[in-house]
Amino acid sequence: MDHVDIAILGAGAAGLFCAGSLAGSGRRVLVLDHARAPGEKIRISGGGRCNFTNLATSYDRFLSSTPRFAASALAGYRPRDFVDLVDRAGIAWHEKTLGQLFCDGSAKEIVSLLLDRMRGTELRLGVSVTGLRQDGGRFVVETSAGPVSASQVIVATGGKSIPKMGATGIGYELAKSFGHHLIEPRPGLVPLTFAEQDLDLSRPLAGVALDAVTSHGSGKSATRFADAVLFTHRGLSGPAILQISSFWQPGDELRVDLFPKGDLAALLREARGQGGRVQLRTTLARWLPARLADAVAVELGLAEARLADQGNPVLDRVAARISDWRLKPVGSEGWRTAEVTVGGVSCAEIHAKTMESRLQPGLYFIGEVVDVTGWLGGYNFQWAWASAEAAAQAI
Ligand code: FDA
Repeated sequence: MDHVDIAILGAGAAGLFCAGSLAGSGRRVLVLDHARAPGEKIRISGGGRCNFTNLATSYDRFLSSTPRFAASALAGYRPRDFVDLVDRAGIAWHEKTLGQLFCDGSAKEIVSLLLDRMRGTELRLGVSVTGLRQDGGRFVVETSAGPVSASQVIVATGGKSIPKMGATGIGYELAKSFGHHLIEPRPGLVPLTFAEQDLDLSRPLAGVALDAVTSHGSGKSATRFADAVLFTHRGLSGPAILQISSFWQPGDELRVDLFPKGDLAALLREARGQGGRVQLRTTLARWLPARLADAVAVELGLAEARLADQGNPVLDRVAARISDWRLKPVGSEGWRTAEVTVGGVSCAEIHAKTMESRLQPGLYFIGEVVDVTGWLGGYNFQWAWASAEAAAQAI
């Protein structure tokens, strides 16, 4: 049986980065992946430009059942460290908004950087990992091309999002077979879907996008995101919805403020004070997309209403419908489109500094397979790099 010092399962962001950090260490490193090409999610990330890190990275930008777990690895490998790599590779980049760094050219440049960096290690593609066991102090990785023996194993097989891109959830099965517990994986950074009756408003608005604030929870513990919202045929999407979707669970209510720029009720009263025979919907369209203004007026039975005829309670109702829209999505678009997995291998059984299993020495978990999920905006790649580096330094 083929023997290697370190087997890395998965040639995605975390696996490739880890191999690069181990290259030149004098040990035989083998990376296995069932895909035909490495780093497929990197290639399609950030709309093809790869949002490869976020300058505002901090552990509180991540969801985890062990909230501070990511802090140590993130402190050990910072966004600037990755930017240095990108600069040394001569890859041009820019900051978009909110600390998000993107390639000027193509995400493929990041894949090439990672592949160059891991020279000296071996990458075997088209090989499915099917199991993992211990045998006489060594690991045996079961694969579609036969077993491989390894002294240490790094599980970097990612989560379950986008099966078409190669996601399998095998990492969870491997973890469970060594006694690890899972935080139930669920789709994150994903468009949300509505029940049929709630689609009456949103379906005709499909394609309309506007700035909004989405929130989940209430009071001080509420989570809020200010960004764009996009109406779809099935519900809502756009960055503010993707962000809040990672916090949402079936049955939860979300609040959406579709006019975060000001006090809509006050603006409507002021406009009414200016007199005239203008329709309510026409006035609303001064501040909102016309299709949304129309849809809200129709929904509230005010399609033909003139602003001058409306009392304060009506204007307050209109404003609340727009600024404090409460909705209960019935679901999400699921693994098919989710950008990430929320949940995964419980951090309670992994050492935060090294990513090594607390249950099985020599076994490591890095990247998305772990119960650490970043917000939208480059945080997930930063976690992949940082957790991979933590494992590589420890091994
Ligand atoms: P990743 O999924 O990258 O790699 C896992 C690897 O394991 C894959 O290559 C897979 O083929 C392999 N594998 C799985 N099962 C296997 C098996 N049984 N046998 C062999 N191999 C197996 N993040 C970010 O920070 N900025 C961004 O711009 C984006 N954009 C983005 C767009 C889209 C469309 C998606 C889907 C995701 C993003 N992300 C992102 C998220 C980011 O892509 C993700 O968090 C990282 O790729 C996770 O890296 P991992 O290496 O952990 O898993």
